[in-house]
Amino acid sequence: MFSRKMWMPGLCLLLSVSATVAALTDYDDEDYPQPEQIHLSLGADETQMIVTWVTQAPTNHSVVEYGLSGGSGLKFTRRASGYSTLYQDFGSERRKLYIHRAVLKKLIPGAMYYYHCGDPLDGWSAVYWFRALPNDANFKPSFLIYGDMGNKNGRAIALLQSEVQNGKADIVLHVGDLAYDMADDNGRRGDEFMRQIEPIAAYVPYQVCPGNHEYHYNFSNYDARFSMYNRQRKAINNHYHSFNVGPVHIVSISAEFYFFLHFGFEQIKYQFDWLVQDLTEANEQENREKRPWIFLMAHRPMYCTNLGNGDCDRINSIIRTGMPFTNNFALEPLLKKFGVDIMWTGHQHSYERLWPVFNATVQNNKSEPYSNPDAPIHIVTGSPGCEENLSPFGDDPLNVSAFRSSDVYTFSRLSVVRKTQLLFQQVAVPEGRVLDEIVIVKDTAYPTWQDPDMALDASVVQ
Ligand SMILES: *[C@@H]1O[C@H](CO)[C@@H](O)[C@H](O)[C@H]1NC(C)=O
Ligand SMILES: *[C@@H]1O[C@H](CO)[C@@H](O)[C@H](O)[C@H]1NC(C)=O
Ligand SMILES: *[C@@H]1O[C@H](CO)[C@@H](O)[C@H](O)[C@H]1NC(C)=O
Ligand SMILES: *[C@@H]1O[C@H](CO)[C@@H](O)[C@H](O)[C@H]1NC(C)=O
Ligand SMILES: *[C@@H]1O[C@H](CO)[C@@H](O)[C@H](O)[C@H]1NC(C)=O
Ligand SMILES: [Fe+2]
Repeated sequence: MFSRKMWMPGLCLLLSVSATVAALTDYDDEDYPQPEQIHLSLGADETQMIVTWVTQAPTNHSVVEYGLSGGSGLKFTRRASGYSTLYQDFGSERRKLYIHRAVLKKLIPGAMYYYHCGDPLDGWSAVYWFRALPNDANFKPSFLIYGDMGNKNGRAIALLQSEVQNGKADIVLHVGDLAYDMADDNGRRGDEFMRQIEPIAAYVPYQVCPGNHEYHYNFSNYDARFSMYNRQRKAINNHYHSFNVGPVHIVSISAEFYFFLHFGFEQIKYQFDWLVQDLTEANEQENREKRPWIFLMAHRPMYCTNLGNGDCDRINSIIRTGMPFTNNFALEPLLKKFGVDIMWTGHQHSYERLWPVFNATVQNNKSEPYSNPDAPIHIVTGSPGCEENLSPFGDDPLNVSAFRSSDVYTFSRLSVVRKTQLLFQQVAVPEGRVLDEIVIVKDTAYPTWQDPDMALDASVVQ
């Protein structure tokens, strides 16, 4: 079963020789072997980068040639051999895609590299560049963050491409719902979307979590195309994984496990146990002092005030309070127990900044609520554009909403100003106007409101 095959490969596979795939005898007009849909993702640490690409026909090798930029022009002094996997889409045509992955290792943190990928006989991609993430204490990364961007009406794409290619961003976090939907038209929608984001994702790591629009065939199209590295498992896991960017630890999880129960209930538990393990490690004193900020990215919000949507406009959302009736695997208590500073979500096609809030109780009763805030911060950033347009707002019975916008397309920009200070901006497209801006300050590594003794199953049900 394909999804199983995709689930298992670890670094051991990445290290092994490239898989040989029998050449097709009948080439139709789609069966060309040149690389496309090139994108980057983070490896185990700052010394690694994973390059993923697609060919429509099999090739015998999956190679990245790369070299340090600067000096006397461009020289591909190094070579990484990867492997390819056949993904056969489950649509009526059972289309075949060849997914190639190679891990670049022993990179110099902070150094710029040129690269191309492909096969010496079948053809190379264009040349791209990236900067290996710096690992020194002075690194002040900038993030671009959004969910819910589609192949059609992807309004933010131009400005995102420009920001990335002008070196204004170090990394992208796409919090689920890609392409609308990747499985459409026998996976061709996914191909088109991955080509559209290549001028972003070939230059900076494009980190993702799954959204509901990825659910087709048990998320297999999504699983096939991305390479999110789970360090504890030493394997690719596009559903839950974590990574560090300067002073920030980011945990990426699937909210969809809570909703697509027919794909397996046990996945909720596996993810929850891993999440506790990861957050426990992130809170070890040495780690938390080095990386005082913890972000959680997941597709669906715990709080929002959009109209007529069962996910977050009622007080007890499944993500926040856990499974119906049992309240198992509730995520909000983890935020407080492990001091998660900011939760990033999408799903609602609008922008909403919430007041610091825990257990449906807003903490905005001081002149600067985001300066040493008294609860986790939630930001819903789901309006870079997709064919479903924008989602209107409704009532706000908890008075939780600090700023909301559903009449322009936007994305989020988050910059580390210094270790104790973040600058958050919501940017309207296409003109790049800053629609909303806050400074988030935290003078202590552990947030003041963190409660390490909180029970994992503490009730947050109203
Ligand atoms: C790929 O390998 C196959 C089988 O080993 C071989 O027949 C074919 O010529 C190779 N193709 C290229 C382009 O090297
Ligand atoms: C769905 O895929 C996951 C791995 O991604 C696997 O654990 C699960 O068993 C699959 N469910 C079904 C119904 O195939
Ligand atoms: C807000 O804080 C002030 C001063 O700390 C306090 O007097 C007031 O009762 C608080 N109001 C609420 C609603 O908590
Ligand atoms: C929200 O604000 C309104 C108007 O100020 C107030 O009447 C209401 O009690 C508030 N609700 C909560 C839950 O604080
Ligand atoms: C959350 O609020 C409810 C109702 O106000 C209360 O019963 C519960 O103890 C609170 N839970 C936590 C963890 O603070
Ligand atoms: Fe969604």
